[in-house]
Amino acid sequence: MEIIIQPSSEAATDIAARIIARLLREKPGAVLGLATGSTPLLLYKKLVGMNLDWSGITTFNLDEYIGLPREHPQSYHTFMWENLFRHVNIAQENVHIPDGNAKDIPRFCSEYEDKIRAVGGIDLQVLGIGTDGHIGFNEPTSSLASRTRIKTLTRQTHADNARFFGKDEAVPNHVITMGIGTIMETRQNILLAFGKHKARAVSEMVEGPVTSINPASILQMHPVVKVCLDEPAASELQRAEYFRWVYDNKPKWQEF
Ligand code: F6R
Repeated sequence: MEIIIQPSSEAATDIAARIIARLLREKPGAVLGLATGSTPLLLYKKLVGMNLDWSGITTFNLDEYIGLPREHPQSYHTFMWENLFRHVNIAQENVHIPDGNAKDIPRFCSEYEDKIRAVGGIDLQVLGIGTDGHIGFNEPTSSLASRTRIKTLTRQTHADNARFFGKDEAVPNHVITMGIGTIMETRQNILLAFGKHKARAVSEMVEGPVTSINPASILQMHPVVKVCLDEPAASELQRAEYFRWVYDNKPKWQEF
């Protein structure tokens, strides 16, 4: 894991945007894995502003609520089209977001995995992290070998996400999420985390044991993970000074 601590979420996002932009320029047929939530909002805004060519890019989103109409303002379909896809020249048929209204969800999930395999796998996956350490919606105690499937949100995630819904609106309990095994097969991951409320989950992910209690900790076993943090999200890392030292002394050829 490469831990990149920046003075602000803006600066941390900037690094992620530069890495993604470089991939899109160098590999016009790249496959991206994408996340939703508040964390990647600025990233998508920056990518839109970079005037990149998305015509050959394929995307797979991590997750979606079950039972929420596709056009609901809080569906991840709406989120992705509003915040990224409608602003770039991506081909609609190259966009893949789990269908939370599929008639046969287990079948949909296994076909989602087939589609990822058929395009040769995901080159770069964007990840956020939940306050309980989830990636995608792989909540604590998820199998570290899991594939795309249905999950039930924890009460904590349910409460965390209620802020996006109206006061009288029900937050769905169930989601489709790519599995941890699915995420571990991507070629590269960029995980973004901002704010003090993420500090505990981040320190457990980076410095704790690999455990399904903090599902993100499995990323310790992935060969290419960049963790882009602002100062508050990094505030519980015991080895923050070491991570800063490594970043400040990167060989020229390793710079972004
Ligand atoms: C969403 C996703 C989740 C979020 C996580 C953090 O697609 O994969 O793991 O990244 O819940 O959410 P925010 O960014 O809203 O704090």
